[in-house]
Amino acid sequence: MDGGRRKEVHVLVFPFPGQGMVNCMLKLADLLSGAGLLVTFLNTHHNHRHLSRFSGAHTRLAQRPKFRFASIPDGLSEEETRSVFNFFDLEESMRTRAAASFRDLLIAYRDKDSGGWPPVTCVIADGLMPFAVDVSEEVGIPAIIFRTISACCVWAFLCVPKLLENGEIPFPEGADLDEPVRGVPGMESFLRRRDLPSFCRQARDHTDRELQVVSSVTASANRARALILNTFESLEGSALSHIRNNSPVTYAVGPLNALARTSSDSGSLWQEDRDCMTWLDSQPDRSVVYVSFGSLAVVTREEFMEFWHGLVDSGQRFLWVVRSDLINRRGGGTEVLPAEVEEGTRERGCMVGWAPQEEVLSHPAVGCFLTHSGWNSTLESIAAGKPMLCWPFFADQQINSRFVSAVWGIGLDMKDLCGRSIVEKMVREVMEGERSEELRRNAREMAEMAKKSVAEGGTSFNEFQSLIRLIMSLDS
Ligand code: UDX
Repeated sequence: MDGGRRKEVHVLVFPFPGQGMVNCMLKLADLLSGAGLLVTFLNTHHNHRHLSRFSGAHTRLAQRPKFRFASIPDGLSEEETRSVFNFFDLEESMRTRAAASFRDLLIAYRDKDSGGWPPVTCVIADGLMPFAVDVSEEVGIPAIIFRTISACCVWAFLCVPKLLENGEIPFPEGADLDEPVRGVPGMESFLRRRDLPSFCRQARDHTDRELQVVSSVTASANRARALILNTFESLEGSALSHIRNNSPVTYAVGPLNALARTSSDSGSLWQEDRDCMTWLDSQPDRSVVYVSFGSLAVVTREEFMEFWHGLVDSGQRFLWVVRSDLINRRGGGTEVLPAEVEEGTRERGCMVGWAPQEEVLSHPAVGCFLTHSGWNSTLESIAAGKPMLCWPFFADQQINSRFVSAVWGIGLDMKDLCGRSIVEKMVREVMEGERSEELRRNAREMAEMAKKSVAEGGTSFNEFQSLIRLIMSLDS
């Protein structure tokens, strides 16, 4: 309370500057605004420029009187790339340089009436930036963490100290990656070395920088007032109950794309090519493999060609998102695809630079999703009831794809392999093979469970209401 008058609840939402995180946290911000709260969405300058150019959600939300966008520098120079390969440089830059701008902005929003807006009463920060929690609490604003990866991956990260202690990681020289892993309770019957988050596989010793960063960042979620996860109880109940031992106030409010039922417009940082929707309209039902490796993954030219041959040899139609930096980004320059790719694709396929993915996945012509198993993509596929063929690239994707195949039975896992004959065989298997009917049925059932969880009275619906109540109680 403020002088007897209740303060207006004003939430500042601050995602880590990556496409997956921005997309997901923008959905949460949209929902909070829909619930009547004032919302400031804080981007880096770099992403703010891209979002305001390309995102339909940005255009829509910017018109709301109680929603505004703000931005701060990420601390990198214009020349430095913000790709996956310098993820840890970006993390460091946010922590060491952007943190000061964040503090200044928060103090201004706390003390001054900026543009007629009341003070910020709560910060929701991406779990990759625990510094944002510390800064917020220091300046007297309560903070909540939002971790945008799967609960199973959060739980695996929380187990890293134990995995190091019992010698599971680093892996011994020449380790068999199909060996089971002990030390992640709830997953011991199906988790193999190759399914652990990629940082575990890459670690050479216990001081490994990347492993230390991801595990300490994850553990620090308990410094915040609450933890938000984009998942739902009937999907990840077991991992959620383990996580609640570390962060007792954990809200599972996903899939956010299903909870935010008002619109499927995206928080894209890339220009969407909508021509693919017209192309999809002219394809038979369940005949198209949608292929996308998300916003960060890169493939070598050889891997790209193996995928392409596998898809063509499978005889299936395909819609493939080939970002301008998908192939060999490290080599610099733009990769020119061989003429045979263009000619061979024209017959049964379509390639675009960036697609309206949620719309694509809901299209009846799409029969399966060949995905890198990013968590947003996985949830979007689940909500659309489409079976998946997984080719995980890095981070949480290795464990997500294991759950898709071995636990939820809604797809197959092609992890670590992408030879053309494997691609051909597995694409056929998901689209028309012996298991295809079972995969489709499981995917449909999972979509129903997702729908129930976000419908009135469902677990995610209820936990979202509890989250709102918590945020409202933090206004003094
Ligand atoms: C990575 C991780 O894998 C993910 O789990 C983590 O939470 C964030 O970092 P990314 O490669 O961006 O993410 O994948 P994903 O999480 O799947 O997010 C990609 C987003 O871009 C999805 O929301 C998807 O709908 C969108 N997208 C992708 C498009 O809108 N169009 C496209 O053509 C491709």
